Amino acid sequence: MAPLASGEVLLRHTAIGVNYVDIAMRSGLYPVQLPFVPGVEAAGIVEAVGADVYLFKKGDRVAYGASTQGGAYSQVRNIPAAQLVKIPPAVDDKTAAAYLSKGMTAHALLRSTYRVGPDDIVLVHAAAGGVGLILCEWAKHLGAQVIGTVSSEAKAITAKAHGADHVINYLEEDFAGRVRDLTAGKKATVVYDSVGKSTFLKSLDCLRPMGMLVSFGQSSGPIDPLSVGELSVKGALYLTRMALPWYISSRVALEQRSEALFGAIEQGILHCKVSQRFPLGEAAEAHRAVGGRQTTGSSILVP
Ligand SMILES: NC(=O)c1ccc[n+]([C@@H]2O[C@H](COP(=O)([O-])OP(=O)(O)OC[C@H]3O[C@@H](n4cnc5c(N)ncnc54)[C@H](OP(=O)(O)O)[C@@H]3O)[C@@H](O)[C@H]2O)c1
Repeated sequence: MAPLASGEVLLRHTAIGVNYVDIAMRSGLYPVQLPFVPGVEAAGIVEAVGADVYLFKKGDRVAYGASTQGGAYSQVRNIPAAQLVKIPPAVDDKTAAAYLSKGMTAHALLRSTYRVGPDDIVLVHAAAGGVGLILCEWAKHLGAQVIGTVSSEAKAITAKAHGADHVINYLEEDFAGRVRDLTAGKKATVVYDSVGKSTFLKSLDCLRPMGMLVSFGQSSGPIDPLSVGELSVKGALYLTRMALPWYISSRVALEQRSEALFGAIEQGILHCKVSQRFPLGEAAEAHRAVGGRQTTGSSILVP
């Protein structure tokens, strides 16, 4: 282990979050600098602090959710203290590792990218996935009508249990037509699309005039280029490509979003549970399961 640099802490991981972005980084879809240790999210105990670390001390229970340089698939690591937040006593390490990144993403999507409220009809793609379940539950709590898309009946049941009012199987049904029918022609005010290639264009057709398409992932592959004029033709639509690191780039923003997430867990707004657990040594199996659409909710690796 390299000596601690100024501003770093030595962290012993107790649980590691598995995110779809780990697969994108491992496969080369998102370029990384080699050699590379995957993983953007984990919880653990501070074992030592370097110079100029004032926010944390040995023994603190902490987590991080956006380590863009990777490194979470490990037992111990050095990490800049600026990326860490303290885990409140009511939240266990496994929940923190499973939810910090996905939950701060959901918070940014629902409260900042587009501010969801009771007048909204929200379409969430991959609604039974890690981010998807949180979006459904939180959007419902905010008073919105929630429509989710999934690939199976079992996932439809899971999404409904987490707040989706209606669920569409987008492998079997024309989801844009179904959204139009379910909303009596009004269509959605916002679409949260992490699926990308296979859903993106049709997502535009799910929106009412001046609605917003929030693209925030590409689980099915990279999105084809879009002519800006299409946004005019389809109803003066808004389009944004959300990315969490920009939404937590200051210490204040990181603390506000993590506190909002932990608060939502403590208040029972989010019913967070870890759906899949794998030993760290079986990370490959975890990637096969998440990448193969076999999982619901959140998954962790246990070191
Ligand atoms: N922009 C950001 O800052 C940010 C932050 C966090 C996550 N994300 C993105 O959000 C998405 C969800 O992340 P997650 O970790 O919670 O993963 P996840 O949703 O648990 O897993 C991905 C889901 O995508 C769906 N999917 C649709 N087409 C697929 C295909 N061809 N191959 C594989 N999966 C497909 C599957 O659900 P069905 O079987 O129901 O189709 C699958 O379960 C990812 O795209 C991730 O990169 C973005």
